[in-house]
Amino acid sequence: MCGIVGYISKNANPESLHLGIEALKRLEYRGYDSAGFAFWDERKREIVSQKAVGKITSLEQKIDPRNSFFANPLILHTRWATHGGVTEKNAHPHCDCKRNIWVVHNGIIENFKILKARLEKEGHKFTSETDTEVIAHLIEKFFDGDLEEAVRKSLGYLEGTYGLAIICRDDPRKIVAARLSSPLLIGLGKDQYLVASDPSAVIAHTRKVVYLEDGEIASISPEKFVIYKEKKPEDIEWSQEQYEKAGYAHFMLKEIMEQPETLEDAMRGRLIIEEGTARLGGLQSVEKKLRQVDKIYLVACGTARHAALVGEYMIEECAGIVTKTDAASEFRYRKPILDRNSVVLAISQSGETADTLAALREAKARGILTLGITNVVGSSQARETDAGVYTRAGPEIAVASTKAFTSQLAVLALFALFLGRQRQLPLTTGESIAKELQRIPALARRILENSAHIRELAKKYQGFENFLYLGRKYNYPIAREGAHKIKETAYVHAEGCRGGEPKHCELALISENFPSICLAPNDSVYDKMISNIEEIKARKGPVIAIATEGNQDIKNLADDVIYVPETIEILAPILNIIPLQLFAYHVAVLRGCEIDFPRNLAKSVTVE
Ligand code: AGP
Ligand code: GLU
Repeated sequence: MCGIVGYISKNANPESLHLGIEALKRLEYRGYDSAGFAFWDERKREIVSQKAVGKITSLEQKIDPRNSFFANPLILHTRWATHGGVTEKNAHPHCDCKRNIWVVHNGIIENFKILKARLEKEGHKFTSETDTEVIAHLIEKFFDGDLEEAVRKSLGYLEGTYGLAIICRDDPRKIVAARLSSPLLIGLGKDQYLVASDPSAVIAHTRKVVYLEDGEIASISPEKFVIYKEKKPEDIEWSQEQYEKAGYAHFMLKEIMEQPETLEDAMRGRLIIEEGTARLGGLQSVEKKLRQVDKIYLVACGTARHAALVGEYMIEECAGIVTKTDAASEFRYRKPILDRNSVVLAISQSGETADTLAALREAKARGILTLGITNVVGSSQARETDAGVYTRAGPEIAVASTKAFTSQLAVLALFALFLGRQRQLPLTTGESIAKELQRIPALARRILENSAHIRELAKKYQGFENFLYLGRKYNYPIAREGAHKIKETAYVHAEGCRGGEPKHCELALISENFPSICLAPNDSVYDKMISNIEEIKARKGPVIAIATEGNQDIKNLADDVIYVPETIEILAPILNIIPLQLFAYHVAVLRGCEIDFPRNLAKSVTVE
């Protein structure tokens, strides 16, 4: 699930190991627990491998600086353990009995137990607890001098998901790469090729890449690469600078601060004010079909699912279409009621989340129109959906999603507006939503200017171990997302609830030691929310209110107030989440957490 890098060059040189390690570091943001590499040393004509638990720097420390290596080809890996503990033995690459075939793998081999038992019976000796190791032994079984052929035969036995890069001592002038439901690409550099699970690893060397498709195998030698299908190179859209911290202490802060620009990018050229609607180029091919749609199923995971929950309110309000949100991990295990007028819309920053892709495939198999909202051009989701919209937020590196979330909300608002105007939404209402959308980036900027006040509040509240986040209607998903952010970045327990629900349960938890963060903007449920805050205050719970600028009354009720500029109810979630992102960030910094790479999490979750 984590990171793969491969490197092969026409001119072997002592810098290639360093180059490979630097490329691997570009994948650190995805989260990992151990790292390793293996390469063919062209001078010494032997395979060299090294592994380490923990950071890539621990791996580097194991390289003897007195040695110079001519690593060519080279494979590297960051592991996010799924099968077998976080140990050096379980780190990749894994090899066969003869230490001839070396494999790095992202994903899960679901039938590894059966395969392992069979291979052990045949005499193979395993040295790790991973599912991955069966791949090396399977290839060994079929290898008779041609690596590519042995890989091809082996893949037929594997069930599950994989991105693979493989090298071999007895056939050393190639990397064989293969993918099934786990991203992999080939970067075309000058006199060199890179293999990677993510474009960020290759961008320092080339912007020309070929994305492997599911089921494809590539054989990459210093002179050429062969994939079993004709493919045109594509350009990576993002620049190298976008992958840097640009002076910020953390990617998460940088990405929070970028939101005025990313929101603008999400909407650029997509609003038609005079018609009160939106133009979404990626949906043009299905526009007619969308007129007939009477049910929309939104599928997503984590933060993207919170965006979907807001989208549900937006679409139902603007377009009057029955809309339902499901966790992508559940979708295909229930019996979703869908017919030919239904649409399944997947939302995913990475476009590689295994659960979301599985939900999409389920819908496709049932002949349902599939749409996608994603941030990554060329991602599996973008390629597999019938049509879709890009969020254009630029690369999001921090594991905790921030700018991608607000861009998803902006795109969902555009989509709701478009569907609404295809149906009963009056021109004047459409026009006022479109105009207000245009103001959102500037309003977001105003919140960010207030960041110092939020940092002060974080200082005051950093010691609490529990938080309740409350919101109603459009802000209920924002309460969930606020809780999600503080959990994953600050390792603090938090729950996001509908404002009306605590009286049925969570009030039992409330005390001086259990603060609540209450979203109470001026909207149609404001009075109800105020009553809910009163209920908490009556039980001595500290309250931070998120309220609309100018609301002085709320100061008499809440212990602290964070003000947010006024906007219309349907767009308020885009603004209200920003102070909660900042609050989570500052609490996490004060608590000494790792911020960009929270423990146990990965940026894109490519296993089910
Ligand atoms: C976001 O802060 C989380 N790290 C996580 O919940 C994430 O939103 C989820 O894994 C879905 O990712 P995706 O948007 O790339 O599909
Ligand atoms: N399933 C493999 C393991 O646990 C690969 C995990 C990964 O994708 O990093 O070793």
